Amino acid sequence: MAIEQEKFEQLIKQFTLDTDQLKTVADSFRKEMVSGLAREEGASMAMLNSYIGMPKGDEIGDFLALDFGGTNLRVLNIHLTGDCKAEVIKKVARPLVTEEYNLINKDAKADDTFDFIADMVAEAVEGVEDKKFYLGHTFSFPSIQENIYNARLINWTKEFAIPGVEGEVVNDLLKAALERKGVKNVEPNSVINDTVAVLLAAAYQYPDTRIGVIYATGYNACYFESNHKDGAAPSIVNMECGNFDKLALSSCDEELNAKSERPANQHLEKMISGRYMGELLTIAAARLSGKEIADDFTAIDISDMLADDENSTKTLAIMKAKMGFECPECAQKLRELAKAISVRSARLAAAAMVGPIWHIAGDNPIEAQHIAVDGSVFQFMPGVQDTIKAALAELLGAEDAAKISPVLVTGGSGTGAAIAACVASK
Ligand code: GLC
Repeated sequence: MAIEQEKFEQLIKQFTLDTDQLKTVADSFRKEMVSGLAREEGASMAMLNSYIGMPKGDEIGDFLALDFGGTNLRVLNIHLTGDCKAEVIKKVARPLVTEEYNLINKDAKADDTFDFIADMVAEAVEGVEDKKFYLGHTFSFPSIQENIYNARLINWTKEFAIPGVEGEVVNDLLKAALERKGVKNVEPNSVINDTVAVLLAAAYQYPDTRIGVIYATGYNACYFESNHKDGAAPSIVNMECGNFDKLALSSCDEELNAKSERPANQHLEKMISGRYMGELLTIAAARLSGKEIADDFTAIDISDMLADDENSTKTLAIMKAKMGFECPECAQKLRELAKAISVRSARLAAAAMVGPIWHIAGDNPIEAQHIAVDGSVFQFMPGVQDTIKAALAELLGAEDAAKISPVLVTGGSGTGAAIAACVASK
């Protein structure tokens, strides 16, 4: 099959951001943070107070952690040792979507989803019914909080669409389900976002961490705000930066938006995160080949293409499965498109880190710090971590960039929720 070189080059250009463009993104990101904190109209980042600060490390006891934020749901029984360590005593994990059921789409019923969760909580405490557990809930969707318990879902993201949950206090829905299921010894007492969870967990390992990032199905970050202008106590702010919108969208981005559950929302997330990168490649590949692609590429396909051998063996197999044909020249082009999409993602992720780095430093020099990152894209997609480092140097200069260490912190959703449950129980 013949590939039109011009069309290909235009597509690559759509996904290319030069240094100046990236600097503009980082700069507007920093401004949008301030605008969101001041609750200005039109601010794209919600900048939500989490009502929790950095942990001390002396948190101790057994707590339940519920991780609700992706298609896999987890309930963990976690022991905090009191000296910056967390041990998983029990773990129950189950998908919310299978071929038989879907508990996250428009046709799902909120009670069914929360009953499903309550059953898993019951399983996690099976055999220890005589002991009371506080439960920390890592709920990874934009939620407005009044305190550490009371988080009201603003709107679903990541293509979740369960009716009847937006506007509700999610822990109340969970409590009601626990009652329906007769689980009497578990008390949900806190809610945190997954970015907050990763930051809390990272503080155990790297006390200089002030920024937590999730780079997975979704994309979001939080940071520790020591100087709330409204007089609130210092606390971690969930930026909900997936919704950052001061970005030049390409026509492929526009096409993806139009097909999504919320076309006007989550523009940055749709350019960065694992949930959408594969779809962007589908759109670009369909344009290049002039063929419809029924089965979307995934972020895993992109990773496979990036790690492929010089004969594009894996890419050819993926093409055959998803596009119905294979051709070596097209496979090469597909890999280049996949690379452009993933490099743009990582460069934007770096710009989104630089915003809070600048904000935290203010007029002072940037301090040496770790940035805690969890998520499959950061962990597994070839080249992403190196691209972020290079982009940080482009944005900050080599000297300041050397002070910043993005580091993988896994298991934060569990540990962070246990820490939150412990803090809230005091
Ligand atoms: C989406 C959610 C956000 C979450 C992120 C990563 O952006 O809105 O709350 O932190 O995904 O899971």
